[in-house]
Amino acid sequence: MTTPGASSPKRRIRMNDVPPTDQQLRDTMVQKLIEVGAARDPRVVAAFRAVPRHLATPEVDVAKTYETETATITKTDESGVDISSVSAPRIQAMQIEQADIKPGMTVLEIGSGGPNAAYLAEMTGDGGRVITMDIDADVTARAERFLKTTGYRNVTVVTGDGEHGAPEHGPFDRIVVTVQSADIPPAWTAQLKENGRLVVPLRMRSMTRTVAFVRDGDRLVSDGFEQCGFVPMRGVGENRMRLAVLHDEEGAEVALRLDGHPEPDTEALRAALRSPRMEAWSGVTVGGEESMEHLDFWLTTNLDNLPLMAAKIGARQRGVVAVASPVGTPTLVNGDSFAYRRSRPTDEEDRYELGAIGHGPNGQKVAERLVEEIQAWNDGHRSDRAHIEVFPAGTPEDQLPAGRVIDRPHTRVIISWP
Ligand SMILES: C[S@@+](CC[C@H](N)C(=O)[O-])C[C@H]1O[C@@H](n2cnc3c(N)ncnc32)[C@H](O)[C@@H]1O
Repeated sequence: MTTPGASSPKRRIRMNDVPPTDQQLRDTMVQKLIEVGAARDPRVVAAFRAVPRHLATPEVDVAKTYETETATITKTDESGVDISSVSAPRIQAMQIEQADIKPGMTVLEIGSGGPNAAYLAEMTGDGGRVITMDIDADVTARAERFLKTTGYRNVTVVTGDGEHGAPEHGPFDRIVVTVQSADIPPAWTAQLKENGRLVVPLRMRSMTRTVAFVRDGDRLVSDGFEQCGFVPMRGVGENRMRLAVLHDEEGAEVALRLDGHPEPDTEALRAALRSPRMEAWSGVTVGGEESMEHLDFWLTTNLDNLPLMAAKIGARQRGVVAVASPVGTPTLVNGDSFAYRRSRPTDEEDRYELGAIGHGPNGQKVAERLVEEIQAWNDGHRSDRAHIEVFPAGTPEDQLPAGRVIDRPHTRVIISWP
């Protein structure tokens, strides 16, 4: 028997018109976070189901704030760089999983906004404490309003430069940094308890990974990392990447992001980009959905001069470059020539062969060198994961493990492979 009117088109239209409640939006978001593996611990799942994150950004469409991949940008600087946001739910869940927070812990969040501090407060419970700090007073004011409205009383909001941590509130069981950092200031290690965890989006040679570190004396040892994107650190620790612009046509800009790489001959590379493409192919194939994050990390560990190339979509559309990734494409530079990673379809559905496009007088050679390293990754390291350790600056060479050393003002970061 059917309910009268239940299948009438009129009634169906009205039901579809009802916007989902914020709880329904949260449930859908949580379902997706579970499906993509970003939320695994039942307590992380419960935290994401509980916090009404949309209340932190009342100026934004409610449904948008629950999209798992969407960061809600709240501030942009005069040159158009995003400098504050509420991070995308997937990234927040991933970092909270990395932090492994237990009830009763004291947690410092560097880079505030409100929702993430509320998730951390859900994780620590009433017996724990969360300190959330931001360099901007308007951000902390927004976070404070949100935490008051939503009733999270075990969170202390601090305005200050995260470079110095929050010594008056430490020591901390966990420090979760939610802003991209090129270094690890001594205050973070000092304020972290022994065996405590520091989760930080660390930029290493232009590649940013959120790394979970465990403190072992004055050394930090990685326990996994994930690819991510964050707004850049400001204040004392500001260390932005420099751009070497290879093509500056509006909407089709191409630039290398330099992060401690040797100074390039930009004029020669600009000329190289205007010269014909050369190709080299590896025979190594990947699935369409496969992440390149570990390969790219392998390449940056094993090749000396491999900045990321950022290209606007217009550059690809106008044929200036063959790829335009928002994250950036690893590009091997050698004098007046360079080569960047690219892929091409194979006969097999959704499988692609990796290769390189070269430009410049030695473009073919440089492309072949990049391909050689792709093959080396495939031959022995495809399922390996890199290990990252951080030592204080000035640690002598003979006390460091083998690996690529990245020297920063406060630290020596070592990336090694099994
Ligand atoms: C991605 S947002 C934080 C998002 C927030 N954790 C959330 O999702 O709820 C990064 C924040 O870091 C802040 N920031 C940048 N440099 C900082 C510094 N040196 N100390 C503290 N905060 C900083 C920015 O003002 C920005 O609000």
